[in-house]
Amino acid sequence: MYITTPIYYVTDAPHIGHAYTTVIGDALARFYRLAGQETWYLTGTDEHGLKVARAAAEAGLSPQELVDDISQRYVRVWESLRISNDDFIRTTEERHRIGAKAFLQALYDNGDVYLAPYEGLYCVSCEDYYKEEDLLEGGLCPIHHRPVEHFSEDNYFFRLSKYSERLLAHIEANPEFVYPSTRRNEVIGFINQGLDDLSISRAQLEWGIPIPWDESQVTYVWVEALMNYATAVGYGYDQAQFDRRWPPTHLVGKDILRFHAVIWPAMLMAAGLELPRRVAAHGWLLVGGEKMSKTSLNQIAPDDLLGTFGVDGLRYHLLRDLSFASDGSFSWEGMVERYNADLANDFGNLVNRILNMVEQYRDGTVPARTGAEPVDVGLKNAAGEAVEALAGFADLGFNDALLGVWRLFGAANAYVEETAPWKIAKDPEQGQRLDEVLNGLLEALRVGAILISPVMPEAAAKLWDQLALPGAPDEPPYTETAVFGTFPELTVNRGAPLFPRIEAE
Ligand code: MSP
Repeated sequence: MYITTPIYYVTDAPHIGHAYTTVIGDALARFYRLAGQETWYLTGTDEHGLKVARAAAEAGLSPQELVDDISQRYVRVWESLRISNDDFIRTTEERHRIGAKAFLQALYDNGDVYLAPYEGLYCVSCEDYYKEEDLLEGGLCPIHHRPVEHFSEDNYFFRLSKYSERLLAHIEANPEFVYPSTRRNEVIGFINQGLDDLSISRAQLEWGIPIPWDESQVTYVWVEALMNYATAVGYGYDQAQFDRRWPPTHLVGKDILRFHAVIWPAMLMAAGLELPRRVAAHGWLLVGGEKMSKTSLNQIAPDDLLGTFGVDGLRYHLLRDLSFASDGSFSWEGMVERYNADLANDFGNLVNRILNMVEQYRDGTVPARTGAEPVDVGLKNAAGEAVEALAGFADLGFNDALLGVWRLFGAANAYVEETAPWKIAKDPEQGQRLDEVLNGLLEALRVGAILISPVMPEAAAKLWDQLALPGAPDEPPYTETAVFGTFPELTVNRGAPLFPRIEAE
């Protein structure tokens, strides 16, 4: 599995909208690794183009100084969010320049590029063209509400129009290609309106990759950026790596679906490459009803939340409270509520309670069960269902899958209440029964630690340590490791609570 995020513009510092896509990709990558599949997870930064050149000028920096600074902020924020990317591509890297030039040359050699006068309206914030009729009143960009600019110059064009039929045929034949289906219909509608050829170069810009056959022009930043998915895995310089990784699964926000589901596949067809497995477009994270953006001044940085909720708290919230296909609202209150209910109560308290009982009644060590079947089949079944629920990650159904995993914690909590170990512990004749109950509960925690590991890597590792288990919760394949059996005879060590309750202010 080769999974990608968009490469983020270095004009914006990272905010939780960017974190949303990257956390989704990370959960997916960790899930596939946990399932035992070879996985490659790519993210990076989009560093060329007019928007970046202007932002640098405004900040009194050279473009290189600006991109070096902001790209490092992305690297650091992904580290702090425990993102497990295997690579980080910067479009100012040499490998990208080499690969992009080879890709452009392939389009050219295929006869799909021609020179023609370009005249049109351009939004620099979008780095995208608009037709007059798509603008808001006063000639404003519909996304940024800023004036578009009139451009007129000779450009190279890519014969996008030539690929309409083939694109439609591919989308028809591969229902999974564009996900979810509402977005698929949107893409079909867009192609059916008729595709214009695409200007892929700029004559009056220097901050970009020169067109290989005409160095007086640089590549249009979107065309260059899309190629990162190929250049990062060796296109144009390491064919063996490319063959091993390709094709990708692209995760994108709905705002950039058209680039990924129309322009990019057409470019790949022209270059004779296999199309992505899937282009999955998620909804927006809204703050105060609007998409987070610099112009709306409603950006929230991940750092603003980590102190209160921790890495796992933030990751869990993004995956549990939003549904992939739709827009969702971020609110502090909602996040506190979810954290306290699911993490502090259902999960954290359960861990604490079980380990506490094991220490109190058994000095930290419970013997392994000798019989084949667990005493309580209900708990075993709940664990089996939770394992099945996790498979929903492959279909990007994170919230439902997590709900399914949390049913195991619900079942374990109910089991504690039903069996009331504090009562059994008083009866010396029920010593074996107490062992069996505690063993089942420890086993439920062991399975739980494995299942939460793609979303909450820190809590999973801490719980694993508290349970004194050898190895790590994320050792594949979970379909074998998470089978409910008997918990081995180990001396557990209860640590600090995993998710201390947050008191609402
Ligand atoms: N540089 C281009 C992408 C090139 S990919 C070949 C770009 N960059 S961006 O910095 O604007 O980031 C876009 C992506 O960030 C969106 O597609 C989405 O994945 C994510 N998000 C940015 N703000 C977001 C929200 N408010 N909500 C959800 N995702 C958001 O476009």
